[in-house]
Amino acid sequence: MNINQITPDVFYVGVNDRVTEKFEAQWPLPYGVSYNSYIVKGSDATALIDGVKIDTVLEFFNHIGQIVPDYLVVNHMEPDHSSAIPEILKAFPNLKIIGNAQTQGMLKGFCHFDDPERFICVKDGDEISLGNLTLKFYMTPMVHWPETMMTYIPEQAVLFSGDGFGCFGALNGAVIDRDMDTTVYYPEMYRYYSNIVGKYGKFVMAALNKLSALKLEYICPTHGPVWNQEIPRVVDITRRLASYESEDGVVIVYSSMYGNTAEIADLLASEFAALGQKKIIIHSLTHSAMSDVIADAFRYKTIVMGSSVYSMRLMPAMEQFLNAMVTREIKNKVIAGFGGFTWAQGVAAAKYKEFAETTGLELTDFFAFKQAISAETRERAREFAATVMNAHTKTIADV
Ligand code: FEO
Repeated sequence: MNINQITPDVFYVGVNDRVTEKFEAQWPLPYGVSYNSYIVKGSDATALIDGVKIDTVLEFFNHIGQIVPDYLVVNHMEPDHSSAIPEILKAFPNLKIIGNAQTQGMLKGFCHFDDPERFICVKDGDEISLGNLTLKFYMTPMVHWPETMMTYIPEQAVLFSGDGFGCFGALNGAVIDRDMDTTVYYPEMYRYYSNIVGKYGKFVMAALNKLSALKLEYICPTHGPVWNQEIPRVVDITRRLASYESEDGVVIVYSSMYGNTAEIADLLASEFAALGQKKIIIHSLTHSAMSDVIADAFRYKTIVMGSSVYSMRLMPAMEQFLNAMVTREIKNKVIAGFGGFTWAQGVAAAKYKEFAETTGLELTDFFAFKQAISAETRERAREFAATVMNAHTKTIADV
């Protein structure tokens, strides 16, 4: 069994990266990441689909071996896939790049490549024959950059989907989902989507709609496993994330200077549990990676935010979290806020109000408490928990 063979004519030649600590220099990679690349051997010509990150190019060439591709299809120009392109062009002097008009501009900018003799510009729906196999191109802008496109082989129902349906996590031996335990990849798919692609939900939905009529035997993304048996699950997760359709869960996110706001976070969690809520996640922004907090905020319905007031603002980590939500155009959430202050009473209320106005979300409830927690604070927290859980339960019931 050739573990890297996907169909009789499609082969995996990608590489794993367990060296880079943070993707895009900011998102942790506890399980590494793969840069996927594929060889398609037609009867008349051979295509290489997507490149790799330059750091891994020597291993990549080892995987390609003696194969001499005629084409390199560039579905996406982010440098985790495109930084090896200058080396690929040198290694295969007769190879031509296939991309779209936007790819062409980025090839010039990122790779100083500007040779019209070696570039084939394709549009939505164009096809290039490899003999017995066809490459058909679908423009899917903003999944994840403006130039992103996907490539389909109709004869074998194989879709090369770029970042679409991808996830963090290096490949540990097998390449296709049916040959491995995929458990580790699903949390990494939520984290990958919400952190990297999350802002572009409407474009992802447009791509899903465009591709919905295609028969799919294999989805070959640029990161993570090749999907075969688990295509329905992967497509469903992507559709739900892209449409901001949340699961039944409450995420309490807090940043607490001296423990009062943290104590209220625990009290709220106990109240939510007592009211019957089973899925409750508490993230202290002191300990949790922002990457995980963003993923859970995307995945679950209700976000409860607690922060001490700090220098007439919210705590810096809370402001970073709110900015991350605004950047990703978060929608369809129940939100509520709370937190302690020492002398600046109106600060937190104003900040959460501004967040609600910016996102278009409704702030279900808010309360602030002065200095240490009192019996009145606890009573107010219980009322707050009941109000939030009422809104949460009603919204979940409406889905
Ligand atoms: Fe894997 Fe948007 O690059």
